[in-house]
Amino acid sequence: MYRSDELLKARITEQLYEKKIRPEERPAFHLTPRVGWMNDPNGFSWYQGEYHMFYQYNPYDTQWGPMHWGHAVTKDLIRWENRPCALAPDTFPDREAGCFSGDAAELPDGRHLLMYTGCRREKHLDGTICDVQTQNLAIGDGVDYQKYPGNPVLSELDLPEGASRIDFRDPKIWRESDGSWRCVVANRAEDETGQLLLFTSLDAFHWSYLSKLAVNHGRFGRMWECPDYFVLDGKSVILMSPQDMEPDSLGFHAGNNVLCMIGHLDEEDENGCFREEFVHPVDDGIDFYATQTVLSPDGRRILTGWMQSWDTVPYRVDNAKWFGQVSLPRELTIRDGRLIQRPVRELEQYRTDKAERRNVAVDDSRVFADPALSGRIADLIFEIRPEEDCREVEIRFAEGGSHYCSVTYRSQDQTLTIDRSHSGVIRDVLHSRTAKVSAADGSLKLRMILDRYSAEIFVNDGETVMSMTHYADPEAAGISVRARGEAAVDITRYLLNI
Ligand code: FRU
Repeated sequence: MYRSDELLKARITEQLYEKKIRPEERPAFHLTPRVGWMNDPNGFSWYQGEYHMFYQYNPYDTQWGPMHWGHAVTKDLIRWENRPCALAPDTFPDREAGCFSGDAAELPDGRHLLMYTGCRREKHLDGTICDVQTQNLAIGDGVDYQKYPGNPVLSELDLPEGASRIDFRDPKIWRESDGSWRCVVANRAEDETGQLLLFTSLDAFHWSYLSKLAVNHGRFGRMWECPDYFVLDGKSVILMSPQDMEPDSLGFHAGNNVLCMIGHLDEEDENGCFREEFVHPVDDGIDFYATQTVLSPDGRRILTGWMQSWDTVPYRVDNAKWFGQVSLPRELTIRDGRLIQRPVRELEQYRTDKAERRNVAVDDSRVFADPALSGRIADLIFEIRPEEDCREVEIRFAEGGSHYCSVTYRSQDQTLTIDRSHSGVIRDVLHSRTAKVSAADGSLKLRMILDRYSAEIFVNDGETVMSMTHYADPEAAGISVRARGEAAVDITRYLLNI
């Protein structure tokens, strides 16, 4: 098996430097880069009895840089095991800027196929430089991957009129029931905003343009990234990550978002064959972008994302030894035009030390805090029942000394706010976000999955999710509840022993 100098160098670097990161310096069950920087998860796939996860990876720095594909595997979506770096920027389509995001699938002959975006820099006679993005393949056995000599398999020559060759990236591939292949790739249209292009192939190696799956027409941000398409509960679903959005009444916030479109396919229409019925944000927290899904062997559609936002990258610990995390995988279903997301059930087998309190009364003078009910790596369930005049109920976690993170429910406004501004931060970037939540009778159910450096809040059994990273002192494990006005709270706490 041929391994380029660039790949060997990356593999040696990760082996040398990962030893300098103690396990306690990482999350307990969220995947982080072996060394250096991680952004988008890539190639989330089931292959030879394991889930494979690749990711955008710079092993040489904790900042974005020449993009490699890092690689890890898991049997249960919770415990991860590293594999050697899978792709390095070492061939014509990707050497200058890297191997950008993409997907993976098993070929009928049992080989593992990766499809990724190669980004190359083109220098013009007038001195200007532009990126050119193409789709490329690599074939492997679950450890080593060989780039396909016929790369690129999709280039500017395959694009429909008006489609940009500069912004043409992040293929997602799947196989149809007739054995043919499809891939959807994000692209910039003539109006400078995103569109999703559909390509088809009989063998996964020779591809041709089919149609436009969806067109932005400037509605949701500018360029779209990291598209996904699948059928779930009888509906067609598109997930994708728009850049440069303005906040709007649907609950999207400024900047990068993840968007879910639920609808159906209109096979007749070449110019946007997806018909939207419902559109909403996938995660209303601070840190979630660039999703990937996989179909598990037992038929569950499972979602992960980069638990980070591009705009909040400056919020990090000094001398960070790694940067970037993959979110906890979530099981997806559709209910009443909404994507419902729940933590994968595999997490429950790691629950220990159950502690419970029922009908805890909190108000302006009664704060609930009990050292027997603390935990930094924990699975928490709260049922909050505010009285009519209750203005807010605040749950603090990762609490120690004067520092804490919090989730605050305001039943009168039906909002939930996550906040890390008091966790010891010294950088002025966004640290708090508020989302609308629905609570018919005022009561709210929260499931809070806490790891050393993150919180993922699932509201009302997955109707809304809010994710955020934080870097509070890892020893801070306090949990407390307070209210302005009166409320009763049921609390169940499990520690997670991973
Ligand atoms: C999304 C993204 C992708 C691209 C990759 C580059 O976060 O911008 O569109 O492929 O990151 O690292």
